Amino acid sequence: RLPTIGIDIGGTKVVAGVVSGEGTIVEQLRADTPDKSKSPKVVEDVIVELVLELADRHDVHAVGIGAAGWVDSDRSRVLFAPHLNWRDEPLREALSDRLKFPVVVENDANAAAWAEWRFGAGRDEDLLVMITLGTGIGGALVRQGRVDRGRFGLAGEFGHMQVVPGGHRCPCGNRGCWEQYSSGNALVREARELAAAESPVAQPLLARVGGDVTAITGPLVTEAARAGDPMAVELLHDIGSWLGVGLANLAAALDPGRFVIGGGVSAAGDLLLGPAQDAFRRTLTGRGFRPEAQIVPAALGNEAGLIGAADLARAVARRFRTVK
Ligand code: BGC
Ligand code: NA
Ligand code: ZN
Repeated sequence: RLPTIGIDIGGTKVVAGVVSGEGTIVEQLRADTPDKSKSPKVVEDVIVELVLELADRHDVHAVGIGAAGWVDSDRSRVLFAPHLNWRDEPLREALSDRLKFPVVVENDANAAAWAEWRFGAGRDEDLLVMITLGTGIGGALVRQGRVDRGRFGLAGEFGHMQVVPGGHRCPCGNRGCWEQYSSGNALVREARELAAAESPVAQPLLARVGGDVTAITGPLVTEAARAGDPMAVELLHDIGSWLGVGLANLAAALDPGRFVIGGGVSAAGDLLLGPAQDAFRRTLTGRGFRPEAQIVPAALGNEAGLIGAADLARAVARRFRTVK
């Protein structure tokens, strides 16, 4: 049960950590995700730097990458990433060439789902759906203890289901995607729009950033909501309601026993999950005549992706050693 390194590459930050066989983080580092305009090589450089620093201090044997993108069925290439500059990127090959460890690449939400199923809020659930609310919406399905990756590795891209015909543009190329209404980006967009409209209801929020609309972030809105700012509460309520609508749609399609909600925005807790639960109950097809899936917060918080990626790497390291 050797420790391994897990890395979570999201739209705004890269977190890397050494994770024990029991799923606990021994040491953690973080860096900003390089700007979307930079070449994929720059993101690789960040990953390599973090791995080498950790490997210097810990006896590790494999690296797992949870990437905010569409990973092929070989868990090797990132085919596409709405929030990163990856287009058919041979990430595993590029990294194993530069690092001296076996590398496994997985979608970030799949990695998070795996961690929650193994160590967190998804334990003992035969049909688990994980949703991560960060820059976008990440999704994953764990069926009987296995991440269901679909035919081409791309199952679980729930964030790009259309919920509003003709709605907001999404970096995936479509309009009205779920993640345009229920994610960190959606929260920030709505908060900034409101503030830019010079609405008096946005004054408390603006005061927190000294009038600088662009300084409004997701965590700032959550902080304001916790302090009782009614506008911030309302913004999270909207995000939560859209979350509940999407979950009801997923229940219609997949009928899971439990939804685990993670990612940065989930730090808002009941301010988000309360409205989500209400909207879910209001939208669920056949409500009142069917069992209802539970909606629970991720137990591993925003670290689920890195823990899951590290654990997936452990399986690969084992195979690697057997082969050797
Ligand atoms: C991407 C997913 C990713 C999610 C969360 C979405 O926009 O399509 O692949 O898991 O964002 O990072
Ligand atoms: Na996924
Ligand atoms: Zn989309």
